[in-house]
Amino acid sequence: MRTVHTLKELRAILQGYRQQGKRIGLVPTMGNLHEGHISLVRRALEASDVVVTSIFVNPMQFGAGEDLDTYPRTLQDDQEKLEAAGNTLVFAPAPDEIYPEGLARHTKVVVPEVSDGHCGASRPGHFEGVATVVTMLFNIVQPDVAVFGEKDFQQLAVIRKLVKDLVMPVDVIGAPTVREEDGLAKSSRNGYLSAEERNRASAIYQSMQTTASALTGGQTDYAALEQAASNTLKNAGFRPDYYTIVNSLTLKPASPEDRELTILAAAYLGTTRLIDNLSVTR
Ligand code: PAJ
Repeated sequence: MRTVHTLKELRAILQGYRQQGKRIGLVPTMGNLHEGHISLVRRALEASDVVVTSIFVNPMQFGAGEDLDTYPRTLQDDQEKLEAAGNTLVFAPAPDEIYPEGLARHTKVVVPEVSDGHCGASRPGHFEGVATVVTMLFNIVQPDVAVFGEKDFQQLAVIRKLVKDLVMPVDVIGAPTVREEDGLAKSSRNGYLSAEERNRASAIYQSMQTTASALTGGQTDYAALEQAASNTLKNAGFRPDYYTIVNSLTLKPASPEDRELTILAAAYLGTTRLIDNLSVTR
């Protein structure tokens, strides 16, 4: 497995693969890889001949006061995990390689509506940063397929709309959330939790499961379910950011007739912001 840091090197290698008629898969990440990320690489290997995993802590998607500077950078560990998974190529650019004129002077991609609520409301500019870097990665790598996790449900919806609206010739695959044994969704940010916080962190998943059973049981008083879950989380020491039941396709508040529902949750445990989601069909 090779690791390259520049667009020039990456383009040269990819040109060779393309000439050989290989199908190219892309897995965009910010590194500090865990089983969730590796499951995306495996999924990409099923759908393509060569897999490029990008590792780039994208400054454009971090807000002021967020964890850009402290975000874990663990390239060597990441390379070992990717090599073991059968990944072909790692693209790990420096910020200057992606934003040579700086963030303020760089073109931005805006995906309306689906970016607006939830994480988009709590993190202004976040999805612009995601849509911009993903557009660039698609243009750089020109993958046949790209794999993203359902863990970041709104992000996946933003990327699907981006690809559709801008007619990008990429097949976007969503892959299921990989969880710890107690149900906590694997996340690079779980490493910020103290041992004591880690013990309580699965309460988000448990709350979503409680809500999901009520929904499959026919409950349609969504506000009551959201309130009850938020209270449970508060009592467990969380500071809920949002806990909301939405239409899985539009991400708008669910209506009683909707059959495909998704619970979207974000909550702080100490200073760590955790997000998760659970979909139900009824
Ligand atoms: P990052 O948080 O590193 O996640 C990279 C990919 O891994 C995303 O598609 C995310 O949904 C997926 N992922 C994370 N945890 C997962 C889990 N427990 N199970 C399954 N998949 C999981 O998301 C980003 O980076 C960035 O926003 C990025 C798309 C790379 C753009 O900068």
